[in-house]
Amino acid sequence: MNILVTGGLGVNGCWVTRELLEIGHNPIVFDIRPDFSLVSDISNDIEVVLGDVSDSAAVLRALKHHQIERICHLAAIYPDAADQNPVRGFQINASTTVQIMEAARIMEVDRVVFTSSIAALSPITPEYLGSGARPIAEDFPAYPSGGSVYGATKVASELMGLNYERLYGIKFVALRFATIYGPGKNAPRHGNINVVWNRIMEHALLGKPLRFDKGGDDSYDMTYSRDVAHSVVLGCLAQRPLHSVFHIGSGRSHTLREFVDSVKEIIPSAPLEVGPGQTEPTGLQGQLAANPGWLFDTSRAKTELGYEAQYLPREAVKDWLHWLERLNLEIVPSD
Ligand SMILES: NC(=O)c1ccc[n+]([C@@H]2O[C@H](COP(=O)([O-])OP(=O)(O)OC[C@H]3O[C@@H](n4cnc5c(N)ncnc54)[C@H](O)[C@@H]3O)[C@@H](O)[C@H]2O)c1
Repeated sequence: MNILVTGGLGVNGCWVTRELLEIGHNPIVFDIRPDFSLVSDISNDIEVVLGDVSDSAAVLRALKHHQIERICHLAAIYPDAADQNPVRGFQINASTTVQIMEAARIMEVDRVVFTSSIAALSPITPEYLGSGARPIAEDFPAYPSGGSVYGATKVASELMGLNYERLYGIKFVALRFATIYGPGKNAPRHGNINVVWNRIMEHALLGKPLRFDKGGDDSYDMTYSRDVAHSVVLGCLAQRPLHSVFHIGSGRSHTLREFVDSVKEIIPSAPLEVGPGQTEPTGLQGQLAANPGWLFDTSRAKTELGYEAQYLPREAVKDWLHWLERLNLEIVPSD
């Protein structure tokens, strides 16, 4: 199948591109940045269209020229960038989703997968926080009041995607991701979002000391980028799923200490230290992903898409190291 992957050179998109190729599909990447560092091993096997996803004519040309049958839409800008320029944030992250749906309608593409986020949700209430708390299912309210421009664009995109499904029968699959970690996720364009895992890896690899005074018992729903990408591929290919919105996480919580221990097990010289106890949640909706204590209910994704996370922190760290070497990725200190 010919599948357009917008943002297919990014930290999640690169794995979507790679997995589609591996299982015999033809991914056509549409991305604005000619940075092939995360796909250097497959760059001769994929077609890349360089362009701005908000340029409808360019998207339509790509759909037509490559006879695209499905779209995985990952191109977006991150919360810091969207807050700095709300007009551009809304244009790239929300208006573009509508343009993609419209292009899909015109070119008779029958499914669009959209990458949404925990940031789309309303403020998380106490019964969903802490050990033994209820996992957050898709019926949790999605009105991120007091949140971010980014969260607003994810909700707007979801609602417009659902309307295109209702009006024109284009299957719309929105995947709301929990916290994500994995190779490449410390580029300046990512801003402050969830970089703690990548900072830990970065310090471990560079032999730079890193100490967390407390918070070792904080738990997080953290998902390795290859699991995230697998959910996108499943969202794109699963037999017509009943629902449109799915929560994608690791299915269980991992503590900060567990992650640090996994890194130290694999990189014994890593100068990492983590103190005990829990930190106070910041309560900031815009930074919810960075706040500990909540867990996504992934049972709908399991039933309808066949999704289940494959990578626990230990396996993820091993895989991460493997790909750093295989792609010859440089570790650039961020501080
Ligand atoms: N990483 C996370 O923690 C997280 C969490 C929830 C949701 N998401 C969503 O997952 C998707 C992928 O994010 P990522 O983490 O891989 O980010 P990323 O920045 O690594 O990848 C996004 C890609 O989109 C491209 N892009 C940006 N603007 C574009 C434009 N105007 N035209 C064409 N391409 C453009 C970028 O060049 C980049 O390659 C996004 O929709 C993001 O909002 C990410």
